[in-house]
Amino acid sequence: MRVLTGIQPSGDLHIGNYFGSIKQMIEAQNDNETFAFIANYHAQTSLSDGKRLSELTMQAAIDFLALGIDPQKTVFWVQSDVKEVLELYWVLSSFTPMGLLERAHSYKDKVAKGIAPNHSLFSYPVLMAADILLYSPDVIPVGKDQIQHVEITRDIAIKFNNEYGEVFKLPQYKVDENVATVPGIDGQKMSKSYGNTIEIFSEEKKQLKKIKKIVTEQVALEAPKEWKGCNVYNIAKLFLDEEGCKELQQRYERGGEGHGHFKLYLHDVIWEYFRPFREKRAYYQTHQDEVREILQMGASKAKEVALPLIEKVRTKTGIAY
Ligand code: ADP
Ligand code: TRP
Repeated sequence: MRVLTGIQPSGDLHIGNYFGSIKQMIEAQNDNETFAFIANYHAQTSLSDGKRLSELTMQAAIDFLALGIDPQKTVFWVQSDVKEVLELYWVLSSFTPMGLLERAHSYKDKVAKGIAPNHSLFSYPVLMAADILLYSPDVIPVGKDQIQHVEITRDIAIKFNNEYGEVFKLPQYKVDENVATVPGIDGQKMSKSYGNTIEIFSEEKKQLKKIKKIVTEQVALEAPKEWKGCNVYNIAKLFLDEEGCKELQQRYERGGEGHGHFKLYLHDVIWEYFRPFREKRAYYQTHQDEVREILQMGASKAKEVALPLIEKVRTKTGIAY
C-alpha cells in the first residue's frame, strides 16, 4: 500500500506529535511504500519570514530523520523540490468549485482566529489535493482536523476524472482510532496552542522545569496515591512497557514517595527514551549537507512518480501541444 504524509515545518516537536503521529509513520515504513514530504509551500500561508521558513524546513528534515524516517525505505523530500505540484495545483483549481473551499473548516477556523483571509489560505486544500494526487497514494494518515481536506481532494479528483477519464486514484484517509490523546502538563490535550507541551528535543534543564510544572493532586508524602488519572502517570505510561507500568503503579500505591519523586522519574524515563534520537539529531545538525543530499535523493524518487502523472495531465488537458 502506498501511504503519503505531509509534514508542516512548524517548529519544536512535542511528545503528543510523537505518540500521536510520528511513531505510527515510522512503523508504517516497514510494510508499506511510504512517501513523506515537508510542506514548505503550505507553511507560507502563515509565515512570511523567509529566513525562519528555511530554518524550519531544515529543522523538520533533521528532526524526522533523527526520529527514524529511513530514506532507504521512505521517499522523503521537500515539497518545493518537485515544482510539478504547483502546476497540478493550477490545473486542479479549475475543478474546484468555490463552495467546496468556502465550506472548509480549517479556513473558517483560521479566519475566525483573526488570520487575514488571503488567497493562499483559501486555496490551501487545492495545493493539498495536488500534493496527494500527484503521487497516487492509497492512504493518507490524518488527524481529525485534516479529514475534510482529503474529502475535498477526492471531490476534485472525481470532477477531473469525470471530464478526462481515470487519471487520478482516489485516496482514502485513515484516522488511527487506537492512538490516545496525549495529555499536556495541565491534563488537557497536549498542544502548542495551549502552551502545555513537553518537547522531544529540549535542553535537559528546560525539560525538567516543564515536568515539574505537571499538575498533580496535593497528598501527604506517606499516603498512598492514585495513579489512575494522575497526569504524571498518564504521560509516563506512554514510555513504559507493561512491567514498567506495574512497578510505577505499585510505587504510587505503596506511599512514601511524593509526586516530586515521580516527576524526577518521568524526566529520567523521557530523557533516556529520546537519547538515541537526540544523538542522531546532533549528528545531522552538524552534517546538513548530508541532509540536503538525502532530500535531493528523495525529490528525484518523488519526481519519478510525479512526472508520468503530470505528463498525462498535460496531454489530457491540452497543455501539451
Ligand atoms: P499542535 O496541536 O501542537 O499544533 P499539530 O496540530 O501540529 O499539533 O499536530 C501534528 C500531529 O500530531 C497531528 O497528526 C496530531 O494528530 C498529532 N498530535 C498533536 N498533539 C497530539 C496529542 N496531544 N495527542 C495525540 N496526537 C497529537
Ligand atoms: N495540511 C497538513 C497539515 O496541516 C499538511 C499537508 C500538506 C498534508 N499537504 C498534505 C498532509 C498532503 C497529508 C497529505 O498537517
